[in-house]
Amino acid sequence: MSALSHKSPPPPCAIVIFGANGDLTKRLIVPAMYNLARTGLLPPHFSLIGVDHNKKTSAEWSAALKDFLVQTLAKNNETLNETLWAKVARCMVFLSGDFEKPETYENLSDLLAAHDAKDGLGGNVLFYMAVADRFFATIARNLGEAGLVSGDHKGFRRLIVEKPFGHDLPSARQLNACLLKYLREDQIYRIDHFLGKETVQNIMALRFANGLFEPIWNRDRIDHVQITVAESLGVETRGKFYESTGALRDMVPNHLFQLVAMTAMEPPVSFDAEDVRAKKAEIFKAVHELRLSDVVRGQYDAGAVANEPVQAYRAEANVAPDSTVETFVAIRLMIDNWRWAGVPFYLRTGKRLAVRSTEIAIRFKRAPHALFRETPVEELDADWLIMRVQPDEGIRLRFNAKRPGPAMALESVAMEFKYKDYFKQAPAVGYETLIYDCLIGDTTLFQRADQVEAAWALVEPVLRGWENTTPRHFPNYNAGSEGPSAANDLLARDGRAWRRIN
Ligand code: BG6
Repeated sequence: MSALSHKSPPPPCAIVIFGANGDLTKRLIVPAMYNLARTGLLPPHFSLIGVDHNKKTSAEWSAALKDFLVQTLAKNNETLNETLWAKVARCMVFLSGDFEKPETYENLSDLLAAHDAKDGLGGNVLFYMAVADRFFATIARNLGEAGLVSGDHKGFRRLIVEKPFGHDLPSARQLNACLLKYLREDQIYRIDHFLGKETVQNIMALRFANGLFEPIWNRDRIDHVQITVAESLGVETRGKFYESTGALRDMVPNHLFQLVAMTAMEPPVSFDAEDVRAKKAEIFKAVHELRLSDVVRGQYDAGAVANEPVQAYRAEANVAPDSTVETFVAIRLMIDNWRWAGVPFYLRTGKRLAVRSTEIAIRFKRAPHALFRETPVEELDADWLIMRVQPDEGIRLRFNAKRPGPAMALESVAMEFKYKDYFKQAPAVGYETLIYDCLIGDTTLFQRADQVEAAWALVEPVLRGWENTTPRHFPNYNAGSEGPSAANDLLARDGRAWRRIN
């Protein structure tokens, strides 16, 4: 796994982006390439080939991406460094072609050969499927049939697959089977962009680079874990996608389970990709089957976020007026191993919640109360380690301290580490590390076929159960709130309560 500082540039290569005119390319991939240029981590020679169905010249393609980048930078009061952009832009080539047609891949093959000869790319190619998931299998098959990903090239041939990886267990298996027909597992990079987030990678550093935490990271000392991925945005322009997806599929088997795995995994013997991925896979094997009674779903009604009125999910564009799709989900899950037996992991995620906040909160067991008999119990509820993934990235430790004064009165206080106070951070979109890792062939932060399938297998009983039961009382939480009351009941049953979303 790579932290980007102290790294050397990857080898020369061609990067082929399918979906060159798409949102992902302009919002994340190209800005990440520009940020790699800032840190001197672009390959010394490369070609950036964009493939999409519309007709465009290379100059038009690069100009459109530049415009967008300039606007994005302006929002952060930054200006584009023309010299750095020129390093990216001069390597950009647009190829117009239909993803379904074999001639697109014949043209691509010719283009790759020409650039390889001209720029000395060593036969290395990274293919990036930044397209709607319905094209994944088609593109993989066409690449395979055109001989573009076979093992007999002199350089590497790798393929990045974006999310969603399948829609349920059968479709994920089918997609894996299709990819593995043409590529070896080590050529496939299944992205979960949460793993590109600095703070998510920092979970491993916190746990395994310090002697302090690991000895207390277990059922003897930890009462429970709360993982929250709260968003204040609604579905925006993605109503159509969301209607066939919902919060469970969109966030749980991927992002939330990755946070669970990072928090719960055993220490790997090394940071080698296979060692880390094997430990994460063990966690998915150890999770108890989810029961419907351990899962709560919700859908937002109209309300107010940051004092602005916002509409209900059912009133969003391309959403059915009687939609039963969930925009919130809360789960209680148990991990059946020596470290975690009896320690619930409570997960929740939702759109249109009070604020945007992603955190992993570890609640330690209470101290024996004998000494503080007079202190109200809620004032002793203080031992928390909170890993803030976003925003305000950092780590906070809450514990009890004596309030100054003659009485032995306690108060919960916090010790805080904030990324922005300690590190002068290079601007990042989170994809820099992931793209860089693909270029150097490090699969640590990518999902293996078995992990993806194990994650889908865990949510499968819930998906099937929900198919047969219409959710009652939808919509059941107001936009701008902390979610449905049923989510509170899930913890109240165990005598616990959620942390405030703030
Ligand atoms: C995506 C989901 O994978 O992650 C979106 O499809 C969600 O619905 C997004 O908004 C959240 O990612 P981030 O990086 O904005 O927290």
